Amino acid sequence: MEVFDCIRTRRSVRKYKDKQVPWDNIVEILQAGKYAPFAGNIMNCKFIVVKNEAKRKAIAEASVQQYWMQDAPIHIVVAGEPEKAERYYGTRGVRLYTIQGAAAAIENMLLTAHSLGLGSCWVGAFDEEEIRRLCNLPEHVNVQGIITIGYADETPSPPPKQRIEHVMFFEKWFGRIEGPKTGLGMWSPYIKKGVTETHRMITKHSKKLVEKVKERLKKK
Ligand SMILES: Cc1cc2nc3c(=O)[nH]c(=O)nc-3n(C[C@H](O)[C@H](O)[C@H](O)COP(=O)(O)O)c2cc1C
Repeated sequence: MEVFDCIRTRRSVRKYKDKQVPWDNIVEILQAGKYAPFAGNIMNCKFIVVKNEAKRKAIAEASVQQYWMQDAPIHIVVAGEPEKAERYYGTRGVRLYTIQGAAAAIENMLLTAHSLGLGSCWVGAFDEEEIRRLCNLPEHVNVQGIITIGYADETPSPPPKQRIEHVMFFEKWFGRIEGPKTGLGMWSPYIKKGVTETHRMITKHSKKLVEKVKERLKKK
């Protein structure tokens, strides 16, 4: 699957078939997480694969009772090691880099799952202490997110997204105008449409006008 298509067509899946995911698929997904960019390449993120049904139920319960989660045959608990980042980058390592590295890993894993024909969902609502207890996480490790994985038993509709020109600026906050070349590049389909339509209208009406002038001249 082409990368952009994979990004565009991935959906959060919250209904799963009762079908096991092949182990090599799970490993490929974890590898994709590992290949994410991490500040200073410190890889201060670990992945706990949960297959046990009772534990998945407990995780769903601890995730603000999102019971749909328990039907996903695989949960991946993404654990961050902020202390490791703090040693290199201080507070920034804890507050920013650990979270961003884990988020990059999670997105890589979601996309890989999708490319393998699997459904997945990023779960961020959970009781961290309860997940920590369920997965035996030490105090210095925190829970960055949970991913559910399995074969989708639903085809979710794409959520609404804003148009690209509403979410991008040129050079500065709310910078709407770029130099003519790049600016027109973005707007060119609209401008081209407008110019074509105007040209069509002028041609149409000018023909009529010429006809009318000719008629009047004949009458005179
Ligand atoms: C940080 C984060 C936390 C999320 N937490 C949850 C969650 O707890 N439960 C859930 O069902 N979806 C959760 N989602 C999934 C979003 O609801 C979903 O990505 C969004 O509605 C867009 O839909 P899409 O993933 O199909 O494009 C979370 C997504 C992110 C990025």
